[in-house]
Order: sequence, then C-alpha cells, then structure tokens
Amino acid sequence: MTPRNVCVLGLGYVGLPLACAAAGAGHRVVGYDPDRGRVAGLRQGRSPVEDVEDRLLEKALASGRLSFTDDPAEVTGSDTFVICVPTPLEEKTPDLSMVDAAVDVVAGALRPGGMVILESTTYPGTTEERVAPRLAAATGLRAPDDYHLVFSPERIDPGNPVYSLENTPRVVGGLGPAAGDAASAFYSSFIDHVHRVSGPREAEMAKLLENTYRHVNIALVNEMAIFCDELGIDLWESIGAASTKPFGFAPFTPGPGVGGHCIPVDPSYLSWRVRRLGYPFRFVELAGEINDRMPVYVASRIADLLNGVQKSVSGSRILVLGVAYKKDLGDMRESPAPVLMRRLASHGALVRWHDPHVRADQVPDSGGVAVDGELTAEELAAADLVVVHTDHAAYDPAMIVRHSRRLFDTRNLTAGHHAEHVFRL
Ligand SMILES: NC(=O)c1ccc[n+]([C@@H]2O[C@H](COP(=O)([O-])OP(=O)(O)OC[C@H]3O[C@@H](n4cnc5c(N)ncnc54)[C@H](O)[C@@H]3O)[C@@H](O)[C@H]2O)c1
Repeated sequence: MTPRNVCVLGLGYVGLPLACAAAGAGHRVVGYDPDRGRVAGLRQGRSPVEDVEDRLLEKALASGRLSFTDDPAEVTGSDTFVICVPTPLEEKTPDLSMVDAAVDVVAGALRPGGMVILESTTYPGTTEERVAPRLAAATGLRAPDDYHLVFSPERIDPGNPVYSLENTPRVVGGLGPAAGDAASAFYSSFIDHVHRVSGPREAEMAKLLENTYRHVNIALVNEMAIFCDELGIDLWESIGAASTKPFGFAPFTPGPGVGGHCIPVDPSYLSWRVRRLGYPFRFVELAGEINDRMPVYVASRIADLLNGVQKSVSGSRILVLGVAYKKDLGDMRESPAPVLMRRLASHGALVRWHDPHVRADQVPDSGGVAVDGELTAEELAAADLVVVHTDHAAYDPAMIVRHSRRLFDTRNLTAGHHAEHVFRL
C-alpha cells in the first residue's frame, strides 16, 4: 500500500471513523471541520461519536499520523480529499451548501494527480454535475484527465456491534477506470471488501436504493400496524412468523416514526431528482406520508388507552421512555419523540421523559420534563401511562411492566411479557 496524504472534511458519524481507520492503515490524515469546539475536543482525544471510543482516538493521535484542524489553510499538502459533510433538506429540497463549502476548501489545495471522493449521501448526478464543475471553475482542473473524481457512499450503521467501517463492503464509483483503481486501492487498505461500479452515478444510486428500500418497508409495516390493531392481530407475532421463511422475506418492524440523518432525508433527495424529470416518485412520497404521521397516530392510541380508564390526555402524567431515534444511541436527529411529546403536551398532558443516552439540553423543545438518573419504580408507578419510544438495552422490560400502571410499547421491548395493562403498537 502506498501511504497517501488524506484530508477528511467533516468529522461526524461518517468522517471521524474514516479518519481513524485511514490513519490506522498507515495513511497520514488531517481531519478538517469548521466546528472549532469539535476540533478542540478531538485534539484532546474526546470523541463526539459513540462508535469511536476515546481510547481509539487517542491511539490514532499518538501514532502521529492523525491531526485535526479548523483552518482550511492546513489542508494543503493533501493528495486525497474525502468529503463527509451533512446533506440535509431545506423545505424538502436538497441543501448542498455544506458540500459546496467543503469543495471550496478542497479547491484551495487540489493539485494535478490528486483524488477527490464524495461520501455524503446525495442524489444521482451530484458528483459529476455539481462537484466537478465547481472544482473546474475554481482550479481549472478537470476530471478524469487532471485528477481522480469518485463517489463512494458511506454505509455506516451507528451503534451496530457487528458491522463496522472495516467489514461493511464499500461501493466505489470513479469517473473513469483510473479513478476507480485509485479509490479501490485506497479503501482496500482498511476495508475488507471493495465493490466497483462503473461510475459515480451508479454508486450514488446504490446508496439511495438501500435507504429508500428501508424507508418504504418501514412504512409498509407502520401502515399494517395501524390496521392490525383494529383487526385485533398481533403484528409483531406475524413478523416473527414471516421471518422464519429462509428466502424472499426481510423483516422490518413498526415504530413511532423514523429518525436519524438518513431514512427521513435521503429518499427525498431521490424523489426531488425524479420530480425534475416531470413526475413523482410515488413510493417515496407515500412512505414519507405514512412514516411522518406515526407520531400523531401514536398520540391518538395514547388518548384511546387513557380513555379506556376514564382519563383524558389533559391532566394525565405520561412518561416517555427513550427519546433518541435509535436504540442505544444518544442521537436526536429527526427523532419523532419531540413531535410526539409536544403533541401530548399541547393537549394538556404532563409529559416527562427519560433516556439514559440523551441529556436534557439535547431536547430543548421537548414539551416535557427530563427525568435524570436511573429509571425508578416510583417514576414508573407515578405515571398514568408509560410509553416505550426507544428500546434501549438499558431498559429492563420486566421492571417496566411490573411497575407501570398502563404501558404502551411502540417497539416491542416487552415482548413475551403479557399483561392486561400492556399494549403494543
Ligand atoms: N450518520 C449516519 O449513520 C450516516 C450513514 C451513512 C451516510 N451518512 C451521510 O454522511 C454524511 C455526513 O453525515 P454524518 O452523520 O457524519 O454528519 P454529522 O453531522 O455527524 O457530521 C458532519 C460534520 O461535518 C461538519 N461540517 C459541516 N460543514 C462542513 C464543511 N464545509 N467542511 C467540513 N466539515 C463540515 C460538521 O461540523 C460536522 O462535524 C451525510 O451526507 C449523511 O447522509 C450518514
């Protein structure tokens, strides 16, 4: 392996693990992020990302091959630039302003023979139609003749104990064979398997296919959960039964809504692009409609459950367990919990919430009161209704069932605990 001088732009869930892995493989890496506080913490070995332990970061720093900066001038000297910045939506339209800003930093340092890789999730065509012309305008350099231009989607699954950056196959789409060769050699130095596709568009599309597939299938089971309740069917049991089929079925589970940076956002990048062809991408739009309605549906089920014991939402004490969008993480991005809690509070509920992974200041607009420390039997028993929103492993289902007066479980955390006061989505 030829060690490269790598610059990773964006040091979050995607960029930081990549910077550490590349440094571990022997590359010299500078991580650039305009967030000064983040860079200061990283320099002291403090990782803001759960999947990168401080220990790992300290080891990478101690190797002398990893450094961090918030100064664009310090990325000169790099020959490989990997862009891992956020790609949010603004009014349902792709917001590529951070990609543009990162490309501008790259433009200040790119030299002939260098390599630019975009990892941020985006609509097909971005690498060739947006990144390449912007670099050409600023530097006069054109891909594929003057430098290697590549799209390689990150597929990291934060909190996944089995699949990490290293053992998740990597898709690489270079503009021209030489770019594909160079990027494959780079990623192969720290990733077990690289899968080449013919160009950046195919790689961009592969990522959106994966996330749209999840989005649509989650919507399918969410819609089923709504009518299964009315039909008196335990959908969780049916999903378990269908999952015994060894071929042709992949299980998805319902929930109080979708969250995170990817599932609620990425499919809209694709539907936005399709709409520019003059027609809608109906699967994505329908799935978005269903998934976005789930917090409202959960609130209506809560109202029904309180009605069942002659109580109203107004004046009831409701305890929400877990507010992060995903199990065992403290990530609040696009979490449906604040939407649910604000809705309950707007109907007069006294909302309290508990999450072992989330600090109160991460949910400034929760509509409720954060419960600190361990979840106690007293806290559970004091609530008219307990709602499981996120199924963190730290929660003991038996204890929650035992001490709750009435329980609504949106994640099947309490699977196998059947009692008259326990209800499921
Ligand atoms: N989080 C995931 O699970 C995941 C998985 C696969 C792909 N992705 C995609 O990867 C991209 C990054 O996501 P993330 O979760 O790492 O985001 P993040 O918010 O965790 O981190 C992004 C970092 O980029 C920095 N940044 C903003 N503007 C910048 C700029 N101009 N130059 C350099 N850095 C800049 C931010 O300060 C932040 O530290 C997104 O496109 C996302 O869709 C995310």
